[in-house]
Amino acid sequence: MLEPEVVMDVQGLVRRYGDFVAVDRVEFQVRRGEIFGLLGPNGAGKSTLIGMLTGVLAPSDGRASICSLDLLTQREAIKKLVGLVPQDLALYQTLTARDNLAFFASLHEIKGKLLEQRIQFALALAQLEDWADKPVRSYSGGMKRRLNLAVALLHRPRILFLDEPTVGVDPQSRNHIFDCIRQLAAEGLTVFYTTHYMEEAQSLCDRVGIFDRGRMIALDTPKNLVQTTRSRLLEVGVLHLPGSVLQEIKAMEGVEQATEENGLLLVTAVDIPAVAVKVLSLLAERKVSFTSVNTPEVNLETVFLQLTGKTLRD
Ligand SMILES: Nc1ncnc2c1ncn2[C@@H]1O[C@H](COP(=O)(O)OP(=O)(O)OP(=O)(O)O)[C@@H](O)[C@H]1O
Ligand SMILES: [Mg+2]
Repeated sequence: MLEPEVVMDVQGLVRRYGDFVAVDRVEFQVRRGEIFGLLGPNGAGKSTLIGMLTGVLAPSDGRASICSLDLLTQREAIKKLVGLVPQDLALYQTLTARDNLAFFASLHEIKGKLLEQRIQFALALAQLEDWADKPVRSYSGGMKRRLNLAVALLHRPRILFLDEPTVGVDPQSRNHIFDCIRQLAAEGLTVFYTTHYMEEAQSLCDRVGIFDRGRMIALDTPKNLVQTTRSRLLEVGVLHLPGSVLQEIKAMEGVEQATEENGLLLVTAVDIPAVAVKVLSLLAERKVSFTSVNTPEVNLETVFLQLTGKTLRD
């Protein structure tokens, strides 16, 4: 028997595209009212996993129960209980916010007085009352994202899935979206949030799954993920780092992971002071100029780097 508060129980879900395994035997549970984050880089399989959990994509293997319904046999019933804020905006650009909301509400057969109430609620939630009768194409990116969120809530879902909802959004709209999510979760809505922004997962989510190449490689509260990381981080700004020098750094005693992207060398190690001395003398010896040296706070980015050997950045 499931604990009553578990609203999502995922057991060994797999999705293949031909021979390629996009989601690989994923297991986790999500509790009611929880904000669950899925943190992973581009191509990790986040959208594919969301596709399966919302009943849009058929799993290739494994099973899951969503609000006590079976994902394999009760997909249509599940679709009524979940809301999806898709990665790509799903709005009619030539229609107004009000007409978009009315259209999407009609797909859920919401009519009459209830329709009016839901549209008013959605416009208020998206802070678009003053823009309700203007075509969506005249909105900023942030306004469109807010409307996209409001559309997903029209039928009062029990679980809300958000697929990278803040890409291309100004900080103000982003904060508004965060406030809405926190408020809705406090009222009992369960939230499944995917992102490749470490700061979002860290500040918003109760628990975070670290997702890479279709696999859940760690899952815990942001605090525990950071605390159980033994490594610390060294960040060195470099003008040009030859691949051979990066290899030497990777091979150094005490170095756990090393990567270089956009002129930033990142090294994780348990004993940063000792490793820093060795890394900087090697750089000097190999005549690699460096512009800055930093030891930033350990965060989910460090955890991710330690677990995967790569960064979350684009
Ligand atoms: N319809 C498809 N056919 C074949 N391969 C696909 C298909 N959809 C996704 N993939 C591949 O599956 C992998 C996971 O894709 P997915 O879109 O789920 O990743 P993601 O984590 O959502 O990435 P992003 O952050 O870029 O949105 C990628 O390598 C992608 O190329
Ligand atoms: Mg995606």
